Amino acid sequence: MEFVLIILSYLTVAIIAGASPIYNVMTYGARGDGKTDDTKAFLNAWKAACADPRNPYFVVTGKGGKIYLLSKIIFEGPCRSSLKFLISGGLVAPNRVWTNQIDTWIVFKNIPTITVLGNGLIDGKGSIWWDCLSKNQCRNAPYIMEFMGCDYLRVKNLNLKDSPGKHLVVYKSDYAALSGLKITSPEDSPNTDGILISDSQHGTISYSTIGVGDDCIAIGPRSYDINVSHITCGPGHGISIGSLGKNGVEDNVEGIHISNSHIFNTLTGIRIKTWQGGAGHAKSISYENINFTSVKAGVIVIDQYYCPELNCPNKTGNVAISEVSYLGLQGSSVSDVAIKLACSSSMPCRDITMSEVSFTPQQANIRLQSYCINAQGSASGHVTPQTPCLKH
Ligand SMILES: *[C@@H]1O[C@H](CO)[C@@H](O)[C@H](O)[C@H]1NC(C)=O
Ligand SMILES: *[C@@H]1O[C@H](CO)[C@@H](O)[C@H](O)[C@H]1NC(C)=O
Ligand SMILES: *[C@@H]1O[C@H](CO)[C@@H](O)[C@H](O)[C@H]1NC(C)=O
Repeated sequence: MEFVLIILSYLTVAIIAGASPIYNVMTYGARGDGKTDDTKAFLNAWKAACADPRNPYFVVTGKGGKIYLLSKIIFEGPCRSSLKFLISGGLVAPNRVWTNQIDTWIVFKNIPTITVLGNGLIDGKGSIWWDCLSKNQCRNAPYIMEFMGCDYLRVKNLNLKDSPGKHLVVYKSDYAALSGLKITSPEDSPNTDGILISDSQHGTISYSTIGVGDDCIAIGPRSYDINVSHITCGPGHGISIGSLGKNGVEDNVEGIHISNSHIFNTLTGIRIKTWQGGAGHAKSISYENINFTSVKAGVIVIDQYYCPELNCPNKTGNVAISEVSYLGLQGSSVSDVAIKLACSSSMPCRDITMSEVSFTPQQANIRLQSYCINAQGSASGHVTPQTPCLKH
């Protein structure tokens, strides 16, 4: 399927390229030698492409194995027409600590209907940052790529690796469709989420392979109607919703569907995480047809006591979780607690449903169990381990 998508997208390029003007970064003075900073050439090519009303192509050619060194760069719209941004060559970040702010290396801002595609490798040069963070010499590590204000965004077939922080962020962009992505960072790289989507509605993420040091996919606050399917995730922290309600804020998430995926060698499998003291709701969430292998700390997790620094005081109030369904899930758990529904005492989880859920222990000598507090709902069909808080 992935292969078919790749072929299709190249056919599209070949057909449309005949009619559309091309803005090749080489024409604007890029060197593509991996050493010269090509940021200025990219910005000049962008300025011209963005002003063209004929649906142009912005082309980062890969011919001859070109790799382009870029500093922080912002591609900003609105543009005169709908652009295709083709990345066939490699992009590489400076191999030094270049910011101490919360920052992003490559930003696409206010460019509705842009399509970013190509199979060039985008290398965030993260290792120097991970080292710096581990020694407490850095506080923030930048993201590789962020889209903000890009409604009807398409992102196809990009390869991202070794981000200092998160890899790809979609923010305030409705009707975004991401597919065919390949994202990799080492399992022990800190906070290197694969994809974060927030403040966006009607989005899809599909046919992608993600292995990172944090969430493969995180669905953040103010996300509505987001479908995630055909994802291969591992290593990492699985596919997560949240965290929500940090510092007492109201966060809402609704209409999230995660299906037809494989999650392996991850910390958790599918998790919803909220902070004590928060407000708002997370509802109408479904998980369907997902396979798991060797999940270490809970395959199904609702954690309303989320506290990564382990020093959170107890607070009343929480994000209300309801209408969460788990259907057709199977696989292996390393920990004995395979299902963990740790819901808030002030805001119990309502309408949790499970059907055809079956987990087996990774090692024969452990017995799987479920942990439940403040969770209500029902189970039907086969559910193992037994989850007595759900009425059968
Ligand atoms: C997500 O899937 C649901 C159920 O199939 C569908 O109703 C909805 O339109 C889909 N949303 C998007 C953004 O594709
Ligand atoms: C999950 O595993 C089952 C049995 O091996 C297989 O039939 C099914 O296609 C798999 N589903 C996914 C989404 O990988
Ligand atoms: C929070 O509440 C839990 C359970 O009621 C209790 O075990 C824990 O000691 C409390 N923690 C603090 C910091 O008060």
